[in-house]
Amino acid sequence: MPENTFSANNVSENQSEYIKLIAEIMEIRKRGEKPLAYVRTYGCQQNVADSEKIKGMLEKSGFDFVDAPDDADFILFNTCAVREHAEDRVFGNVGALKNLKRRHPQILIALCGCMTEQEHIADRMYRSFPFVNLIFGTHSLHHFPELLYNALVNSKRIVERGNDDKKVYEGYPLKRDGTFKGWLPIMYGCNNFCTYCIVPYVRGRERSREKDIVISEAKQMIENGYKDITLLGQNVNSYGKNLNGDVNFARLIKEIDLIDGDYWLRFMTSHPKDCSKELIDVISDSRHISRHLHLPFQSGSDRILKSMNRHYDRKKYLEIINYAKEKIDGLSLTSDIIVGFPGETYEDFKETLSLIKEVEFTSLYTFIFSPRVGTPAAEMDDPVSSEEKSKWFRELLDVQEEIAAKRCASMVGKTEKVLIEGETGKNNELNGRTSGNIIVELKAPKELIGTFQNVKITNARNWILKGEIVS
Ligand code: SAH
Ligand code: SF4
Ligand code: F3S
Repeated sequence: MPENTFSANNVSENQSEYIKLIAEIMEIRKRGEKPLAYVRTYGCQQNVADSEKIKGMLEKSGFDFVDAPDDADFILFNTCAVREHAEDRVFGNVGALKNLKRRHPQILIALCGCMTEQEHIADRMYRSFPFVNLIFGTHSLHHFPELLYNALVNSKRIVERGNDDKKVYEGYPLKRDGTFKGWLPIMYGCNNFCTYCIVPYVRGRERSREKDIVISEAKQMIENGYKDITLLGQNVNSYGKNLNGDVNFARLIKEIDLIDGDYWLRFMTSHPKDCSKELIDVISDSRHISRHLHLPFQSGSDRILKSMNRHYDRKKYLEIINYAKEKIDGLSLTSDIIVGFPGETYEDFKETLSLIKEVEFTSLYTFIFSPRVGTPAAEMDDPVSSEEKSKWFRELLDVQEEIAAKRCASMVGKTEKVLIEGETGKNNELNGRTSGNIIVELKAPKELIGTFQNVKITNARNWILKGEIVS
């Protein structure tokens, strides 16, 4: 099956009409030889996957893509709202477009993604950036061509958010960023409402894609040479809850694993509250599922986990981790952690430290709590100063650095299957990843990028391994 089909399942067929009309307008409006688009993506893989749809639609309208905004006819920022820092960066970077737009008023500028789904942020964007033509939210993606067309033919600025019709749209044309590593969304939205998190508010209720559609997209990716496929969802373990029939995530991934080929399957993110033993067993018996489990625990303190509305405790978390360690050879574990949640004391934080020492994660994604308007945690008492939180944060990094170094050092001498991904940019070296998602640097010809190689680990520096190809 060709990758760029617009076999509209739900994406209304009239989007194809808008795509044609955009192409005609851009022929006249373009500044150079071809219409050029600059799409910048912030945030998680869900946003990256959305941008691949947007780029697919733009490509159908005749756009080529550029890596910097200067020559672009159309500029789009796909934004992330998960922490204040992410939002600040967007405000800074959009502000910097003002002069470009002054010099070339025909450039069309649009903002989309998770930030724009928040009313107060969409308002602030509208007021702060009069040179932005189009602002649309995550729920408007399925009729992006129509929105872009309207922005091109109307002089009025357009804002559309809160358009959540709870549907799953299929049939997008895709322009994937990678040729051998790719994302495969299996569900959208989130129902968990962790008290700190903005995602359920900006991405809407959890909804899964039909199993057959997911499996056929996986097949298509494997046929097209993808070697590393990541199934995406905010909580993949609740895949299928809104679908008819006997489907769950463990069975979905088990079925994908049956597809022949030389590839790895990954998935993100698992929520510990419903990470099942069935899933661990499936990973353990699989041919293609990577030996990596990203299982965010957020805090080691039961009191804080309760206040975060996470629905598991430390004991349950460790139970599943220990089961996974037992069943999956060479398992690599990673996690997300929030430091300085409202009401967290140093005693609570020490519970987080003790948990990371006990589990020995390969790496951690660590964040200082960032209050998000509209979430319950933003209203909670938060007496600890940001200086104190930063001190705890550094302590956490120090502890983890030692653990990661120890974990990586224990791999020296072993031979690992590695997917060679690209150039490191120094010493003519390439980099790749193990099944456990650990980075390996090695000397090898560039032609090997995108292939699997057996690599003997010769050295470990903090969390990066060095290796050499063995036959
Ligand atoms: N759905 C995923 C996480 C999505 S957000 C899951 O449940 O694991 C990615 C990470 O950002 C979260 O795991 C959390 O550690 C962090 N995060 C989310 N909201 C945050 C906030 N308000 N402040 C700081 N970190 C936050
Ligand atoms: Fe946010 Fe929790 Fe949903 Fe993850 S599971 S996206 S942290 S609300
Ligand atoms: Fe950010 Fe939205 Fe992802 S808030 S983390 S881009 S779902």
